[in-house]
Amino acid sequence: MSALEIVEISSLHPLYPLVLKFRNRWLREPLHLNLFEEDLREEDHQTTLIALTKSKEIVGCVMLQPLDKHTAKLRQMAVSEEFQRKGIGKKLVEAAEEKAKNMGCTHLCLHARSTALEFYKKLGYIGYGQAFIEVGIPHLSLKKALF
Ligand SMILES: CC(C)(COP(=O)(O)OP(=O)(O)OC[C@H]1O[C@@H](n2cnc3c(N)ncnc32)[C@H](O)[C@@H]1OP(=O)(O)O)[C@@H](O)C(=O)NCCC(=O)NCCS
Repeated sequence: MSALEIVEISSLHPLYPLVLKFRNRWLREPLHLNLFEEDLREEDHQTTLIALTKSKEIVGCVMLQPLDKHTAKLRQMAVSEEFQRKGIGKKLVEAAEEKAKNMGCTHLCLHARSTALEFYKKLGYIGYGQAFIEVGIPHLSLKKALF
């Protein structure tokens, strides 16, 4: 996927509504949930990174939510099914890590679906605490120190 572009947008960007649709399609519909029933107002203070093909199709996204001065949470990580296992998720996480460092963060944390645990572990994230249920499915907390 050499022609892929990673672009940073805010919730005011014209592509943001399309990113919401993308997140709903790949992160909520498979769980029979609806993103548009959630309170999305806090997202005004978050950063979204999207993966765009040459033809400007959104094929991946991830968000960064600042938690405190040194920590941000990685959330809403998704790559559309036909583009998975091509390195796009890795590129998005690496771009989010660079952005977090530029924001002054020393750590990233996230809630990983158990199905995505190995993906994050390969990228250096470490699990801690007990498994828990979020959006109706098992998750584990993970974190990574940024150097
Ligand atoms: C999890 C997800 C984001 C991974 O994105 P991706 O673009 O397919 O991942 P990449 O191709 O960048 O994979 C990077 C590495 O992780 C591995 N990997 C990716 N998904 C994996 C999985 N589910 N289980 C085990 N390994 C996985 C890849 O094989 C690759 O390994 P390599 O570097 O040794 O070749 C994607 O599968 C997805 O969107 N899933 C559905 C939504 C989801 O679960 N999001 C996460 C919510 S916490």
